[in-house]
Amino acid sequence: EKGTYPHYMLKEIDEQPFVMRRIIQKYQDENGQLTIDPQIIQEVLNADRIYIIACGTSYHAGLVGKQLIEKWAKIPVEVHVASEFSYNMPLLSEKPLFIYISQSGETADSRAVLVQTNNLGYKAITITNVPGSTLSREADYTLLLHAGPEIAVASTKAYTAQIAVLAILAVATAKAKGIELDFDLVKELAIVANVMEMLCDAKEEMEKIAREYLAVTRNCFFIGRAVDYYVCLEGALKLKEISYIQAEGFAGGELKHGTIALIEDGTPVIALATQEHVNLSIRGNVKEVVARGANPCIISMRGLETEEDRFVIPAVHPMLTPLVSVVPLQLIAYYAALHRGCDVDKPRNLAKSVTVE
Ligand code: M6R
Repeated sequence: EKGTYPHYMLKEIDEQPFVMRRIIQKYQDENGQLTIDPQIIQEVLNADRIYIIACGTSYHAGLVGKQLIEKWAKIPVEVHVASEFSYNMPLLSEKPLFIYISQSGETADSRAVLVQTNNLGYKAITITNVPGSTLSREADYTLLLHAGPEIAVASTKAYTAQIAVLAILAVATAKAKGIELDFDLVKELAIVANVMEMLCDAKEEMEKIAREYLAVTRNCFFIGRAVDYYVCLEGALKLKEISYIQAEGFAGGELKHGTIALIEDGTPVIALATQEHVNLSIRGNVKEVVARGANPCIISMRGLETEEDRFVIPAVHPMLTPLVSVVPLQLIAYYAALHRGCDVDKPRNLAKSVTVE
């Protein structure tokens, strides 16, 4: 039930800090260590390459998961959109392992790939919010999101839950491989949960940003580099699906290869700047679009901020920034849709789970 909330989406955005804490709890052993079923870890260790298959928001979570698994567990990962993979299967490695990410566990495009990889005899893990769902039943293993039912068509808490579970999988694999990591994921996720709470308290500011930048615009660009780019893809998807504003996420450096032609006087450009190693470059990209008339909204991370920034997110572990930087984007999309009179929870032309190919 949505209780006192006007929309499920807003309720589900607000639930994210609790979901983080629940995930930590559900994946902790009696010593407080994060653990994953040893059989699953064995499958990961046996693989020479991981293939993540998903659609929409779950695909975007997979992109972040690739970074986590490659950087922490040192296993190569490819991320594929399910509908493309099934008709255009890439050359597979010798010992592939498949991870299906799906909130509902019922997405037909992802299932079509699972049927194929099962027929080929490859092992599969499903990361899903719904125990007993089709993808969960048909894969060898399941990792649950423990996010509670997600009702709004726009996926919010499932995205952050997916990234958290992928982070736990990456750390558990690193540990099994004897790779030393210089942080404690339990602590880092607890910090994430606290920061998420602060961001959920910044609703007024996000409403103001939505009003200022998105009340009448036809389009909106999201730019970022490195992992911020993946969050930009998700921010753009959120905005387009519920507010019907044409929104695109771009890698900062790719703009000048074509897309910058679309920047006009007043075009809103939301830039994420949470990554130290690309901070100067993304700010350079902002200058490029401002020179063409764009109306910039920089969302940065504490420690990297400058005076021009519109909003500064309290610092979290640099690899976990998507868990927090997505929250302002979810809220901005929510308020943009609300101001434009859209049906936030049930956008046109969309269903919560897409059970046709
Ligand atoms: O249930 P799934 O995670 O498999 O769903 C995948 C997509 O259909 C879903 O994430 C969709 O993109 C959302 N409406 C985005 O908010």
